[in-house]
Amino acid sequence: MARHLITSALPYINGIKHLGNMVGSMLPADVYSRYLRRRGHEVLYICATDEHGTPAELAAKERGVPVDVFCSEAHDAQKAVYDGFALAFDHFGRSSSTQNVEITQHFARRLNENGFIEERAIRQVYSPADGRFLPDRYVEGTCPHCGYDKARGDQCENCTRVLDPTDLINPRSAISGSTELEVRETKHLFLLQSKLQHEVEEWVARHEEEWPQLAASIARKWLNEGLHDRAITRDLDWGVPVPADTWPELAAEGKVFYVWFDAPIEYIGATKEWADSAPDGETRDWKSWWYDVDDSVRYTEFMAKDNVPFHTVMFPATELGVREPWKKVDYVKAFNWLTYYGGKFSTSQKRGVFTDQALDILPADYWRYFLIANAPESDDSSFTWEHFTTTVNKDLADTLGNFVNRVLSFSRKRFGEEVPAGGEPGEAEAALGEEIARLLAEYETQMEALQFRKAAAALRALWSAGNSYLEEKAPWLEIKTDQDGAALTLRTAMNLIHLYAVVSEPFIPASATAMRRAFSLSGDTASWVTHEEARALTSVPVGTPFTVPPVLFAKLTDDDLAAYKERFGGEPGA
Ligand code: 2FM
Ligand code: ZN
Repeated sequence: MARHLITSALPYINGIKHLGNMVGSMLPADVYSRYLRRRGHEVLYICATDEHGTPAELAAKERGVPVDVFCSEAHDAQKAVYDGFALAFDHFGRSSSTQNVEITQHFARRLNENGFIEERAIRQVYSPADGRFLPDRYVEGTCPHCGYDKARGDQCENCTRVLDPTDLINPRSAISGSTELEVRETKHLFLLQSKLQHEVEEWVARHEEEWPQLAASIARKWLNEGLHDRAITRDLDWGVPVPADTWPELAAEGKVFYVWFDAPIEYIGATKEWADSAPDGETRDWKSWWYDVDDSVRYTEFMAKDNVPFHTVMFPATELGVREPWKKVDYVKAFNWLTYYGGKFSTSQKRGVFTDQALDILPADYWRYFLIANAPESDDSSFTWEHFTTTVNKDLADTLGNFVNRVLSFSRKRFGEEVPAGGEPGEAEAALGEEIARLLAEYETQMEALQFRKAAAALRALWSAGNSYLEEKAPWLEIKTDQDGAALTLRTAMNLIHLYAVVSEPFIPASATAMRRAFSLSGDTASWVTHEEARALTSVPVGTPFTVPPVLFAKLTDDDLAAYKERFGGEPGA
């Protein structure tokens, strides 16, 4: 049994996330964590809100509340949605925690002692009306190349040219609109990534073969372009303060670290938050997950592809430069984009389906299954309401839900509320057992390879195998001539339901619980199924009392489909 450290990219604090965010980070990490826990591994699944940076400041300003109040409310709002999705984090922390402040400052001091940080003066746009320096993207103006009048200081959205804010014609503050902008000189800390290039290259070379191609190719691309020294501080009110003991002047000016410097460190910070919040009598050793543990802990990160450079190159560079044995990632699971009818899900344009809206419509299991079965793994994948309703109806309502209900209701009607005895298993049961054991092995292989779509396909095949068996044996006909035969069929089918409860849990935890609770079994029913048990299909003994759970998955109608499309829009490119 191994120790598995699992993190999913930290969602930005500003705003509830859409389904595209969910499927590319937190949800697959949760499915994988649940699977590993069931297999008996020790798992620590950590996530947190990414709370610093200008967008958080501006969102708070818009709401008219102090930024710390805004973040604390927004954190709770996100957490509530993730609870609704049944994401079983060991800890869901906050990058603004004191733990993260301390560890981030420690990292910065060590990087400085090791010669990887340098103070440099740079020229930056200052807005007296706003009383602040403006980050590049908050300077707007006319693009000198194409004349677009809403070009941002970092890039023109119209012609895609990369810009410097001083290139803009008629520049103005995107915050206040003020045109009285000045260029002032200000000092910042630079992380000398160029000095770490060689070490990061060596480290990537030792790992990339094991990484999925998407992660490895992005890491290579960044390394080939060369690691540049980067400013890791900003002039903002909100962030991890530069420590005064090391940089008194910058600290006095109120500089804070850049959000992408402290965010990945929060994976560690949140683990310490987890330890610090242990209930009385429980000790949690956060360092045993992160420090000097290269062989005893396997660390897997989940993220969308735009986050890959930060996780495969920049954060490892930081960790290497600290010159302390901090755990570095072993496996990077990266995802492409989930599109909405082929177009972008967009938080700012409110296009697509947000996670809170999704839960308003249907329980989490519907979404969990659909999203993972269609995860944008090897390519982008498209969300459409048509595809969603068809998948729910076919896989969840018909193949799984209907099977469970049919078997249990029919057995109760004919044999009462206990698992019936019936005859000895015959050829059909032997063939079924072989098939189930084979599919279970396939499911395990795909889960271990973090191939989520293929794992979902294997799970679906397990459900289908039960349906084929039931159709073949047709106990509703069998019962007319062979009571024992029908009882055997139903007993075998009930064992399948119990097996489904165990193996489906990572995907659809609430429905899995309902299936498991249908049987009054004593003892540990949380453990995984062995291949022998899958072959025998006798884990639920004759005479076990059972109940018929309410319908597991409602069928979605044409009216439902029309209503979803009406509410969210659905036409391609609309
Ligand atoms: O892209 C994002 O949503 C970032 N908030 C991810 C941060 S991941 C980490 F390193 F903290
Ligand atoms: Zn332009």
